[in-house]
Amino acid sequence: MNAVRLPATRSSETRIVPMSRRHIPRAVELETQAYPRGWSRSVFRSELDQVGRGGRRYLAAVDGRRLVGYAGLWVVAGTGGSEAHITNVVVDPDRRRCGVATRLLIALAREARASGVTGWTLEVRASATGAQDLYRKFGFAPAGVRKAYYEQGEDAVVMWCHSIGDDGYDHLLNQLELEEQGA
Ligand SMILES: CC(C)(COP(=O)(O)OP(=O)(O)OC[C@H]1O[C@@H](n2cnc3c(N)ncnc32)[C@H](O)[C@@H]1OP(=O)(O)O)[C@@H](O)C(=O)NCCC(=O)NCCS
Repeated sequence: MNAVRLPATRSSETRIVPMSRRHIPRAVELETQAYPRGWSRSVFRSELDQVGRGGRRYLAAVDGRRLVGYAGLWVVAGTGGSEAHITNVVVDPDRRRCGVATRLLIALAREARASGVTGWTLEVRASATGAQDLYRKFGFAPAGVRKAYYEQGEDAVVMWCHSIGDDGYDHLLNQLELEEQGA
């Protein structure tokens, strides 16, 4: 008999906290559910070691002590301002469509703005149209394609948002947060 999947609830019980090494074992499990070849423990360790001086930021979404999602950013200083690359966003399959990724991205965007980031970018699988919809809500638009970027030859869509440093972007984040709280 198939397991009964209970309807997900919105993410109001979920807290956004800095990601730490104790989140890694569950993060590796979530990686294997999200990707054909997900990040290993050592990749997570290396990324978390670069928080701060290496320009990385990682946030975790937790229900109580249980990790239900995480997202990361790599801030790179440029001449006309800093750029940020979203390195990863994953949410527990049982907690998807509850606004967890939205809350993680709002928090990351605020950290990026506080660091003087003027543009942020990411690569996303061409087939991940739901994820692309999520990023569109944050002002990202497709800017190009990297052919056969992923395993099994799947293309990556490169998306950019150049308005993250604008005053209006703060309004967008507040609006998304209000929608999330009201959902
Ligand atoms: C993509 C992912 C992070 C989204 O996480 P999530 O917590 O479910 O996202 P949210 O609930 O915050 O979604 C916000 C909005 O994004 C869009 N969206 C997100 N997932 C979607 C999906 N599967 N199908 C269609 N739209 C989707 C919707 O507009 C959604 O708003 P709505 O639920 O009110 O319609 C999650 O599906 C995941 O972990 N996927 C596997 C890993 C991955 O592909 N990560 C992205 C790599 S770049």
